[in-house]
Amino acid sequence: MQPFLSCFQVDGSSESVDFIGVVVKSRTRYHTQNKMRVLFMVSSMVTIATAFTNPLGWTGAAKTSTTTTLHASADSGDKKKVVVLGGDGFCGWPTSLHLSDQGHEVIIVDNLSRRNIDNELGCDSLTPIQSPEVRVQAWKEVSGKDIKFVNLDVAKDYDLLVQLLKEEKPDSVVHFAEQRAAPYSMKTSKAKRYTVDNNVGGANNLCCAVIDSELDIHIVHLGTMGVYGYGTSGGEIPEGYIDVILPGGRESTILHPAYPGSVYHATKCLDALLWQFYQKNDQLRITDLHQGIVWGTNTPQTAKDERLVNRFDYDGDYGTVLNRFLMQGAMGVPLTVYGTGGQTRAFIHITDTARCIEIAVNNPPAKGDRVEIFNQIAETRRVRDVAKMVAEMTGVEANFIPNPRQEAAENELDVSNKKFCNLGLDPISLDTGLFDEVTEVVKKYKSRCNPRKILPASFWNKKRAEECASIDPDSIKLEANDAPAPAVEVTHQ
Ligand SMILES: NC(=O)c1ccc[n+]([C@@H]2O[C@H](COP(=O)([O-])OP(=O)(O)OC[C@H]3O[C@@H](n4cnc5c(N)ncnc54)[C@H](O)[C@@H]3O)[C@@H](O)[C@H]2O)c1
Repeated sequence: MQPFLSCFQVDGSSESVDFIGVVVKSRTRYHTQNKMRVLFMVSSMVTIATAFTNPLGWTGAAKTSTTTTLHASADSGDKKKVVVLGGDGFCGWPTSLHLSDQGHEVIIVDNLSRRNIDNELGCDSLTPIQSPEVRVQAWKEVSGKDIKFVNLDVAKDYDLLVQLLKEEKPDSVVHFAEQRAAPYSMKTSKAKRYTVDNNVGGANNLCCAVIDSELDIHIVHLGTMGVYGYGTSGGEIPEGYIDVILPGGRESTILHPAYPGSVYHATKCLDALLWQFYQKNDQLRITDLHQGIVWGTNTPQTAKDERLVNRFDYDGDYGTVLNRFLMQGAMGVPLTVYGTGGQTRAFIHITDTARCIEIAVNNPPAKGDRVEIFNQIAETRRVRDVAKMVAEMTGVEANFIPNPRQEAAENELDVSNKKFCNLGLDPISLDTGLFDEVTEVVKKYKSRCNPRKILPASFWNKKRAEECASIDPDSIKLEANDAPAPAVEVTHQ
């Protein structure tokens, strides 16, 4: 499959906005080959009446659409060998299973640092996740497919990483292996330094290892919508690049200005510069996916066996906003809305994360093409509106607490996600029907919840910490029958 970056421009320019000293001319870029691919896909995509109770494959959830689309048709049956760095994590595990399910050969690499951070924080996934060994064995029993698991540190075990690439000769490396919580990255100087060393060091190691392997490996990296910042951009955020007119009237296309809101987000901005440099210098083929906040727990694959259950973070450091609300609603405790709840954020369901990664793996840029950047989101919503949806569904109150983050109290967010949609993604939207899936998971494992971990425990700076001094972790009371009990035993079949 040829890449689609050689482009022509359709000048749909409508507005000019002052942006950090350069005049930005908003334009939409389309790609000739991309258009051809879309035509190909439209003719070859198979739309099937859903064979499941619902498109996600579990009972109780409903999606607006009654059909689903087979995205695998986009790759003309070309199956890949894929190394998934960070494949034990919240996004990496279901993505690994999805890729394996679709017939790709998957090798998971993970140093289990996320599990260690749970130990450090005295917290745990609400769902009882199994060891990597049990997980891959369960997948073999359920699907008949092998997934290899390799424990190595991408940021530290450089020689082992090169050796792995040389031995396995993958077509693609999907890179999830970063410290991914903004609150954790702001917790202490130690956590800030670890996040930068781990994330930027890992990205640099991966580029060097691909070069040293002398293989033409496509890197697919998970970035974040946070690289664009959560200010008010004055228009739709394009996918990665903007056309600018520099002082003196020179036209240029540059990476969208980076505007990180935490150390974690800053590492994704630094990663983006590394991708740009190694693409230019060594012609690496790289796709950077600026993902929104992921919600949901299980996917059709992780729901096949309890030993495959995905992790679910509910704590103030790692719990992402919608999942936190759903968990709080299901537990009957007030929803913790930070500040006015006027923050607008982008969201994507975990099932779509896995689908997007497969689309990216199947559509690599050509050697010499600039870094391909997609916005991996389904939609944007204001946090207080999301809280309202959950509050109405569960009957719990929204509790507006002081904001631990240094951020704009209110922001707009208008984001383009045309590229994935053009490649066949029909994103799952926030739907209270789908909230049931998370609610059921939470209710099943509620005895594993530690209520002291629900409130925010990381503060962006001294001022925010002082403003949040009234936040008392002991103020969250669970009903007697919800109080923590010994961990749920999982039966191994
Ligand atoms: N979860 C979200 O809402 C979200 C949103 C946007 C972007 N992302 C990005 O997606 C990626 C995955 O996120 P996630 O939610 O699955 O996080 P996660 O913490 O659950 O998973 C990351 C995995 O990478 C592993 N890891 C970290 N550093 C490593 C290293 N040096 N060597 C080997 N393994 C290492 C961890 O042990 C963990 O299993 C991250 O890069 C994150 O920034 C996530």
